[in-house]
Formats: sequence, C-alpha cells, structure tokens
Amino acid sequence: MDDRSVYKSIGREEDLKGISRRVSQISVSAIKQMPVLAREVAGAVSLGQGIPSFGTPAFITKVISEALTKDEWIGKYSLQPGLPELKHEIARYLRWKKGISVDAETELFVSCGAMEALAAGIATVVDRGDEVLIPTPNYASHIEQVLFAEGIPVFVPLLEEQGWRLDVEGFRKAITKKTRAIIICNPMNPTGAVFSKEDLLAVAQLALEKDLFVIADEAYDFLIYDNHEYLSCASIPELKDRLIGAFSFSKMYCMTGWRVGFMYASSKIINQALKVHDAFAICAPTVSQCAALAALRATNGKDGPGDNFIKNLVHALGQRRELTCARLDRLKSLFSYQIPRGAYYVFPKIVGSKINSMELAIRLLYEARVISIPGNGFGPSGEGHIRFSFGGTEDEINTAFDRIEEWAQINL
Ligand SMILES: Cc1ncc(COP(=O)(O)O)c(C=O)c1O
Repeated sequence: MDDRSVYKSIGREEDLKGISRRVSQISVSAIKQMPVLAREVAGAVSLGQGIPSFGTPAFITKVISEALTKDEWIGKYSLQPGLPELKHEIARYLRWKKGISVDAETELFVSCGAMEALAAGIATVVDRGDEVLIPTPNYASHIEQVLFAEGIPVFVPLLEEQGWRLDVEGFRKAITKKTRAIIICNPMNPTGAVFSKEDLLAVAQLALEKDLFVIADEAYDFLIYDNHEYLSCASIPELKDRLIGAFSFSKMYCMTGWRVGFMYASSKIINQALKVHDAFAICAPTVSQCAALAALRATNGKDGPGDNFIKNLVHALGQRRELTCARLDRLKSLFSYQIPRGAYYVFPKIVGSKINSMELAIRLLYEARVISIPGNGFGPSGEGHIRFSFGGTEDEINTAFDRIEEWAQINL
C-alpha cells in the first residue's frame, strides 16, 4: 500500500480551507485513528488502544441503574466544579493514597476524564509562544494540547537503554526564558516506564528553581508492577503551587467510556481552569460523577469491593504483562524492548528491519490483522518503535502474537 493512501485513510490529508490555524495544526492521535482504520479489517485483533478488557464492576453499575430509575437529578447538570460529595470522597482518597491534605472545595474539580483536566490545565498556563518540555516518546494528546494552546512542544528524549529514564540534565539544558511547564506522565504511556523518586525530585527542584509548572498526568497511578517504587508528583509538598495534576477513573475502575476524572491544583489554578471547563464542558456528566462516587465509596483500603476489584485488576494485568514479554522474547529478531513497570503498554524498538513504524503498523493491520499503534505518533523519538497494549484478554494477546510471528516468518 502506498503511503499517500495510508495517510489519507487515517485523516492526514485534509481540506483545511477556512479552518483555524490552531485546529489545522493538530491531528487526531494515531491511538484513536488505528482502531477506526481497523473497522475495515474483519477479525482484526487489538493490541492497539488502551482499553482494559473488563467491564465496569457491578458495585458501580448497580448503584447507577437504581439511581437512573429513582433520582431525577441524575440526568441534569451538576454544580459546575462537580458533585460536592464526590469532591469530598476524592479529597479523602488523595489523603489516604498520596498523603496530601486537599481542600475539596477549592483545590479540585471533576473533569470529563483526565484528558479534559490536562487540556484545561495546559490552556490555563500556556500562552502563545510559550515552551513546554515534553519527554519523548510521550502520550500523543499532550503534544496536541500544547499546540492547541499555541504553545511550543520542546522534546527531551527519554533514556531508552536505562528503562526509559527521565533525562533531568536534558530538561535543564532545554530550558529557555520562554519555558513555562514540564509534562510528566507517570506511569507512562507509551513506554510503561515508572520514573524514579530521585529523578522526579530532581525535576521538581528544577521546576522550583526555574519557576515552571509541572503538569502531571497520573491516569495509571494505581497500576504498578513488582512493587516498583512510585512517587506521585502530587505528594511532593514543595510543588504544591506549581502542580497541575490530572487523574482518572477510566482505567482504575474500567470506566473508560464514562468520561470522568479530576484535576488537583492550587485554588488559584483551579479557579482559572474552571473557566475553561465551563467553556468546553460545563460539568462532567452527572451520571458518571455518581458512578465515580460509588467507586470511591467502595474503596477504603479495608477489603471493600473497590479494593478487591483494583487488586484483581492489577494482578490480571500483571499476568498479561508477563505473557506479552514472553511473546516478545520469541520475536527477538524483530523487536527489543524495555520491561514495562507500570500502565499496560510496551514500546518495543524495531530492530530486525528497516521498516518504519507507520509502515509496520499498517502492514500488521492489513496483512496480519493485528492492531498496533505506530511509534511516530508519540513524538520524535517514537519513530522506530511500535506500541502494544496488553489491556486485552490473554486469548487476544496470544492470537495477536501468533499472527505477528507468522507474518514475520513470511515477510521479513
Ligand atoms: C497517559 C494518559 N493520560 C490520559 C488518558 C485519558 O484518560 P481519561 O480517560 O481519564 O480521559 C489516557 C488514556 O488512555 C492516557 O493513556
């Protein structure tokens, strides 16, 4: 298949006449485009988008199905910053999990997923021409959100051979008078890296020294393997006034479609970000906020249904990680990889072929019927890699790798 038709089919060739510069320069990430493209491929199996295979648990859905028949207000707008009961539960959760004391009234708002919290946070502190340091490879949407705010993404490559470590010196060197913020996604999509305490504290120190915001995307903060050390940026007290934290219910409770998360920041930032939230969303869906409330009420560290659900989820995903790594070990002629320490992604380097990431993803889709995400969608140093998600079932993972092995034998 020639490149042009591929790019056209995933929306790169567009009629931009009359479209604002702000929107013209951004694109829908490959993470979302590949599954759309895959609709043409009957029987394609997915290692693509990061959606856990499990449904939203019954301790959440039961509460909602009852509320839908009883509570008329569930179909109405909530207060704009979110349901007060939910904000109080979130504050309790943050105190318990991250050891921070949060004012539920002023330091939180409930967003339409972590995604909206990130977009609102970036729009709140980034002006036209401001530079934002982004480790690369990185979650594609952060890049689009910076561009949408008319900021300039400045990419600082992660140290792949050191397990995708943060390059703190690289950040220091990249700072200019225009630098406004650093984005830290931890655990990380797409690499599965979990950054060390030492490196995160060094980044925090740099932010304080240079008067920068740290925009922390912690959508996978519950999902760490092997008891790996994990530090939430929200737990660094010195960062308090410079932190914009984005958190999610999507992955922890298998609620990706409910679209609910939250922002934690200083009251000054929350007040301003709420203007963006109002302009773009008004409020997070009330029904989803009720679901998030049921989720947190069931999660208290005392063997509640929420605690058990999360424990089992982390265990199951840990097994899928083992399986994925074992299957990648059989493909050493094509890939080398760093073991994921968190989230449910692995980001192998393509070693056995000169094929680029887009061509590999497209050929895997059309010739092997496996959905993957090309590495070039994750910033400049993503090229030469491919992202596999292990959120799917073990059967799906095995089928996908059987097909890739067969394809590689014939084609490479
Ligand atoms: C790193 C990262 N941040 C944010 C999101 C979006 O989270 P939410 O569903 O809460 O908007 C995702 C979704 O895959 C993600 O991988």
